[in-house]
Amino acid sequence: MIIVTSVAEARAAISRWRGDGCSIGLVPTMGYFHDGHLELMRASVRQTDKTVVSLFVNPTQFGPEEDLEVYPRDLEGDCAKASQVGVDLVFRPQPNEIYSPGHQTEVSLAGLASGLCADDRPGHFTGVATVVAKLFNIVLPDFAFFGEKDFQQLRIIRQLTEDLNFSIGIVGVPIVREADGLAMSSRNYYLSESERSEVLVLYRALHHIRHKVLEEQVAKADELINQGAVMIKKCVSCTLEYLSIVDEKSLQAVSDIEGKCRVLGAIRVNQRIRLIDNMALYR
Ligand code: PAJ
Repeated sequence: MIIVTSVAEARAAISRWRGDGCSIGLVPTMGYFHDGHLELMRASVRQTDKTVVSLFVNPTQFGPEEDLEVYPRDLEGDCAKASQVGVDLVFRPQPNEIYSPGHQTEVSLAGLASGLCADDRPGHFTGVATVVAKLFNIVLPDFAFFGEKDFQQLRIIRQLTEDLNFSIGIVGVPIVREADGLAMSSRNYYLSESERSEVLVLYRALHHIRHKVLEEQVAKADELINQGAVMIKKCVSCTLEYLSIVDEKSLQAVSDIEGKCRVLGAIRVNQRIRLIDNMALYR
């Protein structure tokens, strides 16, 4: 596995592979790999000839009060894990390699980047869309792999790919969970033991809603959101940021659940740690 820090080195290696007729897969990440990240890499290794992983804690997607400085990092461990699953190249640039001092251009979306996570994280999706567009241009992959865990992000990336005419197949990978259902996240490492057991309430609320829709044919979104919110509010250390049942494509809230709908939620634990999760409301 090759590890490079500059755009020029990444491009040189990738264009050699492309010259050999290889297809290229890209897995954008911010590092501190868990099995969710590794599942994206495995999907790329299966589907493409060469897998490129970018490892970049992108400063522009963090708000001023957020956890950029303390975001967990483990470069050596990450490279070992990536190599084990068959990744061919890790691109781990410094911030000034991605954002030169004169950098001015941003990619922002109109509809999809408002509401849900954007309400609590203004500007977040502009940071994400900008860095992903830049990574797409640097790597020019045939396929890029993103997790359904960040469902609004995945939807935004599909939209920007279409809107900006990137000829890249976007592959969505299902959420990888811990044995008890908690969605894997680099931010789970911030949780104390007691917080770790309490945050399961988000998964339980989503699961409850999915069960009601699929097994009891309840179709009124309001009723189910109220039930889920009551469950979450019972957890004293958790604040509910949002719980919403949306159409998967538009991400607009629905009142009657039919077709491809999804329940999305975010909680904050002891004001410090923000966790998100979601579930499909169809089989
Ligand atoms: P990061 O949080 O490191 O996540 C990298 C990728 O892993 C994302 O596509 C995310 O959805 C996926 N992922 C995380 N946890 C997952 C889980 N439990 N199951 C499945 N997939 C999971 O998301 C980002 O980084 C950044 O915003 C990025 C796209 C790299 C742009 O900076």
